[in-house]
Order: sequence, then C-alpha cells, then structure tokens
Amino acid sequence: MSKTLLILTGHSKGLGRAILDQFLKKEGVEVLAISRTKLNIEASNLTQLPIDLSELEVLDKELESIFPIANYETIILINNAGWIGEIKPIGKLHPSEMRTQVNLNLLAPMFLTNSFVKSYKFTSSKNIVINISSGASSRPVSGWGGYCSTKAALAMFTLVAAKENKSDNFKFFSLAPGIVDTEMQADIRKSSDVDFPELEKFQDFKSNGDLSDPKEVAEKIDYLISNVEKFNEVIQDVRKF
Ligand SMILES: NC(=O)c1ccc[n+]([C@@H]2O[C@H](COP(=O)([O-])OP(=O)(O)OC[C@H]3O[C@@H](n4cnc5c(N)ncnc54)[C@H](OP(=O)(O)O)[C@@H]3O)[C@@H](O)[C@H]2O)c1
Repeated sequence: MSKTLLILTGHSKGLGRAILDQFLKKEGVEVLAISRTKLNIEASNLTQLPIDLSELEVLDKELESIFPIANYETIILINNAGWIGEIKPIGKLHPSEMRTQVNLNLLAPMFLTNSFVKSYKFTSSKNIVINISSGASSRPVSGWGGYCSTKAALAMFTLVAAKENKSDNFKFFSLAPGIVDTEMQADIRKSSDVDFPELEKFQDFKSNGDLSDPKEVAEKIDYLISNVEKFNEVIQDVRKF
C-alpha cells in the first residue's frame, strides 16, 4: 500500500505535468491524474482519468471513484487545471465560453474540494488541498474578467474550507505559482493589444527570461506539501518561499 495518494488535475502539460513528474519519481506515492488528454506514460503508480472538468455532470458521476476510501497516510488534492479564457473586455465575452471557464476554474475545484472533505473528514490521514490560484485573484486585469473572478472566488472558497476545518487533519492552500513558462502564457502572448492592454508587458516577460520554469515551481509545491506545518496562512505565493 502506498503511503501517499495525490489527486492532480491538469496533469497533461504545463505546471501540472511538472507536478506529475515531481511526484511520480517519489517512493510510496500513487497519483490519480485528471485532464482531457491521456499521456502515453507507463507507470504502475499512475492512474489517468480522461475527463473534461468543465462538464460538471460527468465530473459529478466520477466523484466517488476519484476519492477512494483506503488507508493512506497522506492524501493530497491539487486543483491545477485552469483556463485563461477569452482574453477580451467585458462586453465582448461569449456566454458559452464564460460558462466553460467558470465550470473549469471554479465549480470543478469546488466539487472536488467538497468531495475531498466529505470523503476524508473522519479518516486519520493527513489531508492537504492546494487550489492553484494566481496573482490575478487579487488584481483586476483588463481582458481577464472571467479569469480574475474565478481565481478570486476559488481563493475565498479555500479560505472558508480552511476556517471550517481548523481543528481537523486538514490543510488548505490557495497558491499563486508566479508567471510560469507554459502554453497558458503562450496563449496570453497571442492575444490582441486592443483586447489586452498589458500584452507588451507579457511579451517582455518571455523575451527577458522572466518566466519561471514549471519544474522549479513543482519543486516549490513539493516543499510546501512536505513542510505544511511551516505554512500557517491559506493564501500562499511560491515567489515568497
Ligand atoms: N502559467 C502561468 O503563468 C500561471 C500563472 C498563474 C496561475 N496559473 C495557473 O496554473 C494552473 C496551470 O496552468 P498552466 O499554465 O500549466 O496551463 P496550461 O499549460 O494551459 O495547462 C492547463 C492544464 O489544464 C488542463 N485542462 C484545461 N482544460 C481542461 C478541461 N476542460 N478539463 C480537464 N483538464 C483541463 C489541460 O489539460 P488538457 O488540455 O489535456 O485537458 C492542462 O493539463 C492553472 O490553474 C492556471 O490558472 C498559471
């Protein structure tokens, strides 16, 4: 029996892929990974569940199988899957894209966090939830209305979960990963300067080499998980540790 179970969303690329690689190489860790894309990796400690997390009816049906009742010392949920959404000012957004973004960035991690607490509240395991946030959760960015709003709401949900489970065997974090060199950043650089006034700044981040390496961010997340007792605040930023 593995000592640790990691449930990770958005493992197929970017930061999630780096977190997956970081944890697969550890002893005694089993990973349940959820993205739309299934990676071509053979590892006895990896189970991949290919689902679209914005399809909430599908997710709802899978919840029981995602959180097995089993004897692990530590159970970790990392809600990492996320989408920058349409980069356009409010007034030019499409309702169907807004719905997909809210489902993926906010409701899916809320469903997963809720099920996680329900499943493990009365177990003896150490339970850790990390909801991947963004500096945009506390800073209004023109063109990112849906992204800023969903990240802000998820941070508040995480704060409430932490408040409700203070005396229990739970730790909750809303973690900003910094500006990371992933496809999400490439998508941001492809947007239009009409719709996104900060375009040049984000293009400069790339050309000046200011983006973080996903592997280094994954190592920081591993450090946080291995040292939760050192982190008292729910709101965390990898650039601060
Ligand atoms: N990159 C940054 O600078 C930055 C900064 C702050 C915060 N963040 C946050 O960090 C997290 C990871 O971002 P990233 O930069 O690594 O993004 P990314 O490279 O675009 O990767 C996103 C991941 O989410 C998965 N995903 C997207 N839509 C999905 C869906 N409908 N259902 C299931 N999985 C889905 C993708 O897999 P599939 O396409 O295979 O489904 C992929 O594995 C996000 O929450 C993002 O908001 C990133």
